[in-house]
Amino acid sequence: MTSQLFTPLQLGAISLRHRVVMAPLTRMRAEAPHNALTDLAVEYYGQRASHGGLIITEASQVAPTGQGYPLTPGIYSPEQVAGWQKVVNKVHAAGGKIVLQLWHVGRLSHSSFQPGGALPLAPSAIAAKATGMTAQWEQVPYEQPRALDTNEIAGIVAAYRQGAQNALAAGFDGVEVHGANGYLIDQFLQDSTNKRTDAYGGSIENRTRFLLEVVDAVIGVWGADRVGVRLSPWGTHGDMHDSDPVTLFTHAIEALSARDIAYLHLIEPRSTAERMGLGVDAIPESALDLFRAKFDGPLIAAGGFERANAIAAVDGGKADAIAFGRYFISNPDLPKRLQLNAELNAYDRTTFYGGTAVGYTDYPALETAEAA
Ligand SMILES: Cc1cc2nc3c(=O)[nH]c(=O)nc-3n(C[C@H](O)[C@H](O)[C@H](O)COP(=O)(O)O)c2cc1C
Repeated sequence: MTSQLFTPLQLGAISLRHRVVMAPLTRMRAEAPHNALTDLAVEYYGQRASHGGLIITEASQVAPTGQGYPLTPGIYSPEQVAGWQKVVNKVHAAGGKIVLQLWHVGRLSHSSFQPGGALPLAPSAIAAKATGMTAQWEQVPYEQPRALDTNEIAGIVAAYRQGAQNALAAGFDGVEVHGANGYLIDQFLQDSTNKRTDAYGGSIENRTRFLLEVVDAVIGVWGADRVGVRLSPWGTHGDMHDSDPVTLFTHAIEALSARDIAYLHLIEPRSTAERMGLGVDAIPESALDLFRAKFDGPLIAAGGFERANAIAAVDGGKADAIAFGRYFISNPDLPKRLQLNAELNAYDRTTFYGGTAVGYTDYPALETAEAA
């Protein structure tokens, strides 16, 4: 019997022919000075498009203040929209679907990216105990960010709204709000990074406010059935911690469920922690078991999946679709390889970020696999 992984799925208004999703993957190969994608990125995404398959793009900053790594693509300027438009056209020509991931890094930035060399923005003036990158590609400890004034927050929400509008103009099938991995929305959610005393801090309701304001703004542009949200409960990237993640994420996920968004996208916490060499003692085995029942809609799971556990997760009803990250970097035709149970190319992490076509568009596809 074929697995459900290779059967159609409806994500809100987005119809898929299979459930092998390309996870959002930052590659740091946009073009200076505009941070717009090039024809090489058009080729890269085109190689990874499959008939009726979903690509979630690399995270794209909604404003200059939202950038935290060199050469990540934005979605706030005409050059950026034009670059994305070419990507979208290529993916659509192959019969694929593509949603844009909307991003603001918050404190995980460096003043060298910020307009006027200002400090990065965050809910509270607490530095991440980790190293980040400067605009010159140097590894440095994160700076202490500047806490946003209450009256600045509406402007950030408006940047997400504009990013969503620009994504609509570029022809995407929808957008994913990046609420995961220690970036701005996650910094508002979790209490190690949010010490605010206004309406955006303190109680769980208040800490969830920014996420929901962003989601509602984006829904206002796209309609709920073309908006997904990515969260990473227990995620450790960016020096994150919450004192009560079950209550926090239950509240956030129930609020998203009530909005009837197209999908919820959860990152399995252990895979990230293990990948980063961190202890997993305090981290539950799976976020899916805890939160599946709180969300009344399609659930995409990501983190540490390969063929067997992806099939088990979907056929076992733990998730509706599986997003693959690193294996989609090294296997442009991953859905086909998984369906045929073909061997996967190994990935080379030294070429994940930055550089040229090497490790980007030169991973081979299967030649004659249909014969199998
Ligand atoms: C090179 C690289 C870039 C990534 N960029 C993003 C990103 O832009 N947005 C995001 O939400 N997650 C990002 N992630 C996390 C992946 O989407 C995914 O959750 C993670 O790689 C775990 O899945 P995997 O085990 O299939 O690789 C990135 C991961 C890698 C390895």
